[in-house]
Amino acid sequence: MKLFVDTGDIEEVRQAADWGILDGVTTNPTLIAKSGKGFKETFLKICELVPGGAISAEVVATDYDTMLKEALEIASWHPQIVVKVPLIESGIKLVRTLSEKDIRTNVTLVFSVSQALMAAKAGATFISNFVGRVDDISDDGMNAVATTVQMVDTYGFASEVLVASVRHPLHVVQSIEAGAHIATMPLKIMQMLFKHPLTESGLKRFLDDWNQAGLSIFEPGTA
Ligand code: E4P
Repeated sequence: MKLFVDTGDIEEVRQAADWGILDGVTTNPTLIAKSGKGFKETFLKICELVPGGAISAEVVATDYDTMLKEALEIASWHPQIVVKVPLIESGIKLVRTLSEKDIRTNVTLVFSVSQALMAAKAGATFISNFVGRVDDISDDGMNAVATTVQMVDTYGFASEVLVASVRHPLHVVQSIEAGAHIATMPLKIMQMLFKHPLTESGLKRFLDDWNQAGLSIFEPGTA
């Protein structure tokens, strides 16, 4: 199970990367606009902070020719960059072209299994199945994830299923249960994955007992 952080904020990427367990970064035009920094400079910095990680940068055109130009430009910046493409007809055509050029892609705004099939057939590296936005309109966003994972396995597609639009740790647990390959989430949700009240109270008790006994790991004069 790979973990990606979903942010355009370099400081947040730095914080998540510092734990040593980060596999990649996803962004979208909204997150990049919010960062207030230049597009290319942001991605070069993120690639430096997450060596070897998959870093998704999204095209913003919707017609095939302009999307292709944007994709080739973005992909030329760094070998870690994955071109993020929306699931529209021109997007699927673009994914096919990029996959023939061995350029990795992340198909975004995928909400249904039938959309995921289009992305897989085009050769998408990652299929971003959004869950939170479906929950927001009173449906169960996780429904499509397990079936998409099953589809990829059954038909031997090379795509990895990436659970996106994650709103809380339960979505991460459900992603694991569904056998998803990746989950991407905001930094604050990733921080919540560490938390358990029994860890906090357990650690407090261990340290109180240790300190009360006046013990030390280091012999006097060796620290
Ligand atoms: C993923 O690639 C998307 O950027 C992200 O998960 C969208 O999340 P949201 O629905 O919380 O905006």
